[in-house]
Amino acid sequence: MAIILDGKKLRDKIFEDLKNKLDKMPQKPTLAVILAGDNPASQIYVNTKKKTAEKLGIKSVVIEYPSNVTEKEIIDKINELNNDKTITAILVQLPLPGHINKHNVLDTILPQKDVDGLTAFNCGKLFAGEKPYVYPCTPKGILLLLDEYNIEIEGKHVVVLGRSNLVGRPVAQMMLNRNATVTTCHSKTKNLTDIIKTADILISAVGKSVVGENFIKNNCVVIDVGIFKDETGHIRGDVDFDKVSKTASHISPVPGGVGPMTIASLMLNTVELYEISTL
Ligand code: GUN
Repeated sequence: MAIILDGKKLRDKIFEDLKNKLDKMPQKPTLAVILAGDNPASQIYVNTKKKTAEKLGIKSVVIEYPSNVTEKEIIDKINELNNDKTITAILVQLPLPGHINKHNVLDTILPQKDVDGLTAFNCGKLFAGEKPYVYPCTPKGILLLLDEYNIEIEGKHVVVLGRSNLVGRPVAQMMLNRNATVTTCHSKTKNLTDIIKTADILISAVGKSVVGENFIKNNCVVIDVGIFKDETGHIRGDVDFDKVSKTASHISPVPGGVGPMTIASLMLNTVELYEISTL
């Protein structure tokens, strides 16, 4: 049976350390979150981010817009937040309403306040093998989890399923920067099951059931980033946990694996940006 990569346990440890650090700070970071539209999942995520920040002693402000907000209104607000010295981190919750160009919006954020690491500046640094101000939250959380369990990355074949800007692309780069051999698969990939079989570390970020029994090689490390409700209303990930955990060496559960690590990384990034701002 596979060892469970316990994201909740590591998150709690990170929160404890962060809380101690924040308690000693004379002033606190402030995270500004922009939420546009009425996506119910986004509303839950933003609420969790706000509550978590406050529990740790990070100040937060949520700026909400209806779904008919214009791109200019959001960009004007970001410029205002960029110029506000009391705001040390800015997050634009995705997805944005369909009529808004997310790249125009994200690239307005000052790279030093870009807590998600999603601006062209920070992505560019990452893809050039240089240090961005901060790394995107979910990929950072995945690496922290692998490191916590002393899983070696160098020289390993890492197979990433999905090529999103939030997870697939940045995690592939971060693995490459750690000297893994990386294959990124997507909806047009041929012979997907053959490629998955060659993975030493499999990272699935698709949002659909894609990894079943007999897909992986023995002792593969399996990271499940997917989270969705199945037909019966149960929360599940991309991987058939019960079956795959019989042959994997390590596996992250859903819920309780990567999800808690994403929020832990967001809090870490908020404090890191604050420390840069006061240097
Ligand atoms: N939507 C889903 N996950 C994320 C995330 O990590 N950051 C942002 N900004 N939006 C998201």
